[in-house]
Amino acid sequence: MRKPIIAGNWKMFKLISDAVAAATALKPLVANANHCEVVIAPPFTALKAVADRLEGSNIHVSAQDLAPEIKHGAHTGEVCGDMIKDAGCSHVIIGHSERRAMYGDTDAVVNRKIRAALHFGLTPIVCIGETLDERDAGNAEKVVATQLAQSLAELTASEVIRIVLAYEPVWAIGTGRTATPEQAQQMHAFIRQWIAQQFDATAASDLRILYGGSVKPENISDLMRAADIDGALVGGASLEAESFS
Ligand code: 13P
Repeated sequence: MRKPIIAGNWKMFKLISDAVAAATALKPLVANANHCEVVIAPPFTALKAVADRLEGSNIHVSAQDLAPEIKHGAHTGEVCGDMIKDAGCSHVIIGHSERRAMYGDTDAVVNRKIRAALHFGLTPIVCIGETLDERDAGNAEKVVATQLAQSLAELTASEVIRIVLAYEPVWAIGTGRTATPEQAQQMHAFIRQWIAQQFDATAASDLRILYGGSVKPENISDLMRAADIDGALVGGASLEAESFS
C-alpha cells in the first residue's frame, strides 16, 4: 500500500519568524494524521529553525532545491545536500516548473540533483508537468514521458522507488484552475505505466505520485479518490496552517 503524502511548498514566502509560527500552528492540527505523511518545504533561511521546532513531530521538513554537486566547493549561492540534511530536512523538491522556467533547471540538471539527493539520503520530490500550449497541442503525455526519461536517466529501479514524483501541470499552478480528477488520474496512470515499462512492476506499484496545481481544501477529497493519485504538492493553500491541515 502506498502511504499518501501531503506536502506544502512554501516557495519564496515567509521570514523565519513567520515560518516558525506557521509550523508551530500546524503541529497540533496534524498530530493525529497517521493516514498520510506530512511534509512542509519552507525557504532555505527558515529550514533549520522550522526543523528544530518540529523535532519529534510527525511533520517532515523539505528543502525546495539543492546543488547538483556532492562535494563542497566553490559554488557560490548553492546549497549541498548534506547541508540540507544538517539543517534537519528529510526531503527536497527538485525540478519545480518555476525553477525549470526561471532558473534554467533542465532535465539533465534535474537528473544530477536527483542523484545528489539520493547520495545524501534525502527523498527527492521530483516535479514534472506540461504547459498549456503543450496540452492544447495534444502533447501532454509526450512531454511528461520525455521529462521522465531524461530526469530519471540511468537510475536503477531501487533508486526510483526512493523518489516521489509530483505531476504539476504548469497551467494549473497558482491559476486556480485545477486539473479535474479525471485529467490528473489519466496522467498519473500514464506515468505509473511508463515507470512499469522502463523500470519494473514493483517500482511502478510502490512509487508515490503526487498531484500539484491549485490544490485546495475544496478539491483535495475528489483528487485523492483517484486510484493513482497518492497525495498532493500544495502551494498557496499550504501557507496557512488551517487550510493546509
Ligand atoms: P499552487 O497550489 O499555488 O497552485 O502551487 C502548486 C505548486 O506549484 C506546488 O509546488
